[in-house]
Amino acid sequence: MNTAATGQDALAQIAAAEDLDSVERLRVAFLGKQGSISGLLKTLGAMSPEERQSVGPQIHALRESVTTALAERKAALESAALEARLAAETVDLTLPAPEAPRGTVHPVSQVMDELAEIFADLGFAVATGPEIEDDWHNFTALNMPESHPARAMHDTFYFPDASPAGGKMLLRTHTSPVQIRSMLQHGAPLRIIAPGRVYRSDSDATHTPMFHQVEGIVIDKGIHLGHLKWTLETFLKAFFERDDIVLRLRPSYFPFTEPSVEVDVGFALVSGPDGKSRRVLGGSGDAPGHGWMELLGSGMVNRKVIEFGGLDPNEWQGFAFGIGVDRLAMLKYGMDDLRAFFDGDQRWLAHYGFSALDVPTLSGGVGTPA
Ligand code: DAH
Repeated sequence: MNTAATGQDALAQIAAAEDLDSVERLRVAFLGKQGSISGLLKTLGAMSPEERQSVGPQIHALRESVTTALAERKAALESAALEARLAAETVDLTLPAPEAPRGTVHPVSQVMDELAEIFADLGFAVATGPEIEDDWHNFTALNMPESHPARAMHDTFYFPDASPAGGKMLLRTHTSPVQIRSMLQHGAPLRIIAPGRVYRSDSDATHTPMFHQVEGIVIDKGIHLGHLKWTLETFLKAFFERDDIVLRLRPSYFPFTEPSVEVDVGFALVSGPDGKSRRVLGGSGDAPGHGWMELLGSGMVNRKVIEFGGLDPNEWQGFAFGIGVDRLAMLKYGMDDLRAFFDGDQRWLAHYGFSALDVPTLSGGVGTPA
């Protein structure tokens, strides 16, 4: 056998290979299991020791040189392909740039901004309180002592650890504890709203375990229900951008107010282009084609709550109210499923979100969607 001739022939074929597929075919033909050089290697086993000693090194050298040649040819073809691509593909600077993803303001944040804007015009400051509360601020100081049945109604998330003062720690079930914190911190007179997150162990199409409320409290001298009604009416007219908002005050019960009133707002049932009827706020709920919808809880601040706030209820009176912010957003912007607020679906945000540059102002039209 002439390994030199076999080698020359193999190297010539490799040098002539024009693409990576041909190189691979040659590798299989020479070095694969059934390959010619692999076949030569197998013959070594049947040879006499002397023969193997003379022929063996030639066959190994042949395999070596073919292996090297295949690798070199492959590398050369690959770098040629890369050169060709680099030469062909150029960056076209005249093409429009891909659009950068743009953030939007969440409707809940937008509505909270609108609330702060409207109430600022009425002389209210914005107050905040912790979301991890103790049961004294969340319940006791709001006239819900330990055994009070209203505590059970709140489906509270409790923490396993007690507060330093000994009471239970919990995720606040409403924004009302900010009433107490504000009275203790600022005294009277006081006019604040407190928007923020609240938590209850509750979940369906109209309830999420975390939702948003805005609390309002006014403490001053000679405050009565008339002030409450005017304030809510003025706020709701500005918020819904309608002059025909009509409120109905119904007697109710909250431990922290006395008397307590549930506030309903009149709406008209209007059928949309899709045939579905929608509630549009405005007009008396008693008018034909109209109805009343419950909107918020409120009342005159209970004397005991004013005392827990460190003030003398014979000197100071006030009103308070609490509204669901998510519900306000749904009503104003026509969203129908509360859960979508917290799904984090960018398509929903793109549909309902607001431009980050659209700061709400009363003069500019509050909350005009971008
Ligand atoms: N804290 C009440 C709740 O979460 C809402 C509420 C009702 C707040 C009446 C008030 C109020 O300030 O006066 O159900």
